[in-house]
Amino acid sequence: MKDRIDKFFSEIESIEIKSKEHLEEFRLKWLSKKGIVTALFDEFKILANEERKEVGRHLNDLKNKAQEKFNHLKEEFEGGEEIPASDIDLTKPAEPIAFGSRHPISIVRNQIVEIFSRIGFTIKEDREIEDDWHNFSALNLPEDHPARDMQDTFFIKGQREQSEFVLRTHTSSVQIRMMENSKPPIRCIFPGRVYRKENISARAHCFFHQVEGLYVDENVSFADLKQTLLFFAQEMFGEETKIRLRPSYFPFTEPSAEVDVTCFICASKGCAVCKHSGWVEILGCGMVHPKVLENCKIDSKKYTGFAFGMGIERIAMLKYQINDIRLFYENDIRFLSQFKRA
Ligand code: DAH
Repeated sequence: MKDRIDKFFSEIESIEIKSKEHLEEFRLKWLSKKGIVTALFDEFKILANEERKEVGRHLNDLKNKAQEKFNHLKEEFEGGEEIPASDIDLTKPAEPIAFGSRHPISIVRNQIVEIFSRIGFTIKEDREIEDDWHNFSALNLPEDHPARDMQDTFFIKGQREQSEFVLRTHTSSVQIRMMENSKPPIRCIFPGRVYRKENISARAHCFFHQVEGLYVDENVSFADLKQTLLFFAQEMFGEETKIRLRPSYFPFTEPSAEVDVTCFICASKGCAVCKHSGWVEILGCGMVHPKVLENCKIDSKKYTGFAFGMGIERIAMLKYQINDIRLFYENDIRFLSQFKRA
């Protein structure tokens, strides 16, 4: 009998159990009332006294071996036995959960949207594949107008009529869609991605993001534009910020201006960001050209409006002092994890 027990012992040792079902089979075969161990104990009872001592030890070892193997695997499959409530330490710190962080472009975009929403601007997004009319012609950029070359364009050939579509070069196209589809007063901002056929470098990329703003109503003046932009600049860059408007040219606005803010990095003392001028350029703007209003069937004698457009990457680069635009699109976790959730 002792030899049989030893054989069983090594059999138990070598059994591989891979699932709960296997484990239950194991229990039934070895440890249940009708199992091998019970049967062996029954046999043991009728042994002669001399044999009992030695066989008993072996039999107990076998029983313990089977029970231990069973307990150990049960724990593994069921994740251990239930812990009594008294053993749970409620003062222990919880397992930390690693939060992601927002992309810097999203942070700055949301900030811009939030600032303008506080002064009554609504938000609208529209398509990135645009027709010539909305991206150019309606914005007072007729075909062959030299100002079309201001923005290098990706063209998409239409399949049927050879009509040309473009990847929008600016979010100004959404101004047109907005004015075509609604009546003044219009006070809205349009964030989104735009595309330019540029060589990729530290300062330029073939796509980036803009926020366009538009306000059309009776008696909207250049003073309104200036005050709106001053409010934005102070909310975005700090109360002390001043703005400066320089005359410029955009076909869709007249007059047009480029806007600088006092350098928020060095408080205008002069640094690398403002190239020691104390000012940094942040956007283009102007009064909506009467032709543009007319193109959208808005009476330019009754209504006036202002518009502006800014690059989100540019503002994020200034704000966080990022010197390479490519970093925004590489999704390097070491770069992205530096930005707080917002
Ligand atoms: N669309 C211009 C660009 O992409 C930016 C711009 C300038 C938008 C002046 C405007 C504006 O609405 O009035 O460079």
